[in-house]
Amino acid sequence: MFGPVIMGSSNQKISYSELGQKLVPSAIASVMTIALENPDVLSLAAGFTDNHSLPVPEVGEAVKDLLSRSGLPEYLQYGPNQGRPELRHMLAERLMKQDGVVYNEEDRKKVFITNGSQQALFLATQVLCDAGDIIFVESPSYFVYLEMLKGEGIEARSLPVTEDGSIDFPGFEKELIGMRESGEIDRVKAIYLVSYFSNPSGESRSEDEKIRLAEVLQRLDEPIAVIEDAAYRELYFTEEYPARSIVSLDDFKGISRLYLTTLTKPFATGLKIGSGFCTDKDWLERMLWLKGHHDFGSSNFTQAILENVLSDGSFDSHLRVIRQIYQEKMHTLHIALCDEGLETVGWEWKKPLGGLYLWLKAPEELDTRMGSEFWEACCRNGVLYVPGDLCYGGVKVFDSVRLSFGVLSEKNLMEAARRFTETAKLFSNIG
Ligand SMILES: Cc1ncc(COP(=O)(O)O)c(C=O)c1O
Repeated sequence: MFGPVIMGSSNQKISYSELGQKLVPSAIASVMTIALENPDVLSLAAGFTDNHSLPVPEVGEAVKDLLSRSGLPEYLQYGPNQGRPELRHMLAERLMKQDGVVYNEEDRKKVFITNGSQQALFLATQVLCDAGDIIFVESPSYFVYLEMLKGEGIEARSLPVTEDGSIDFPGFEKELIGMRESGEIDRVKAIYLVSYFSNPSGESRSEDEKIRLAEVLQRLDEPIAVIEDAAYRELYFTEEYPARSIVSLDDFKGISRLYLTTLTKPFATGLKIGSGFCTDKDWLERMLWLKGHHDFGSSNFTQAILENVLSDGSFDSHLRVIRQIYQEKMHTLHIALCDEGLETVGWEWKKPLGGLYLWLKAPEELDTRMGSEFWEACCRNGVLYVPGDLCYGGVKVFDSVRLSFGVLSEKNLMEAARRFTETAKLFSNIG
């Protein structure tokens, strides 16, 4: 006779793919777990947006409007893999307007809608790179992307910089020529820039810098793509950053370019819709084929909501409100750090003109890595940050931190600044 079958009692072990075996939890997920498990901890780590100003009335109105439309509720049906044509049209037009160039009907065809710009980054990288390939990144760069590259065995190599921290274009050209001579150039697939109010540095790339990059690539004439991540372009505090995107600069003509933007940070992160504008038809087609394998289209309903708020102006009026909120929050954190005396113990930072982050340089030789004494002391003192070393590709730097001011209330930002500075003072050699 058979004995009782005990469900789930198997000792068999499934085996994983190479990718599955290599995977490790992301650093930010570990930081978020610490925050969730310790409610008294104040997190300046995760790049969440302000909860109190999330656009509840705007989304409510949009949903009401959609549901009251006559005809079939097409928005509750699957939509096109590339995204809703009307939303793509609106986003292409919006980009052209920001860049001060005339919108052309062809532009809509270059836009595709994704599950946040994160998915677009993934698709773009997957269709370009194999393990061992190289993507050049800024120092510092968006650490979630760097983790993605690492997970895929792709090398994130730092763009060379001059003493003042700007890109060393002659040095970069020399490096690429050297790679051509050594036969390594075929591994270089793209350059990735976070060019408006960057995560994490808060810095933007001038038009002149973009043009100098284009000149290097034109002279080199190798098939190297450029990915411009403009996640924070619309989150300026008072003034737009006056540089056109790489898709509108003629200097890049003939170079494959992908411009990424998102509707999460400037509106509602929970809607998780982003988009790409790709100048290379073939690259775009391949990204769409891959997207077809992922999900064959981002949420049609969410896209319809976004079409609605973009067309009735509520997206832009909400954006005007949150720009001011983030400016005030940035100011609160900055002033609190100054008042607590962080500068007096050797820390330095610049006030950003947009975005969600303060990028702080610690006094020389203070190790801020996860697990360092400073990190452990901050955790014990109830404040979390993103360690700066996570934001570097090749050349690691251990003495910086990223502080996010998006999600904490003004009161908690002040308390977090107090805790952070209190800890920093324990590690100070000054005074
Ligand atoms: C620079 C940058 N790019 C892309 C993303 C992805 O954002 P989302 O997927 O929400 O559009 C983020 C999110 O923090 C980011 O900071």
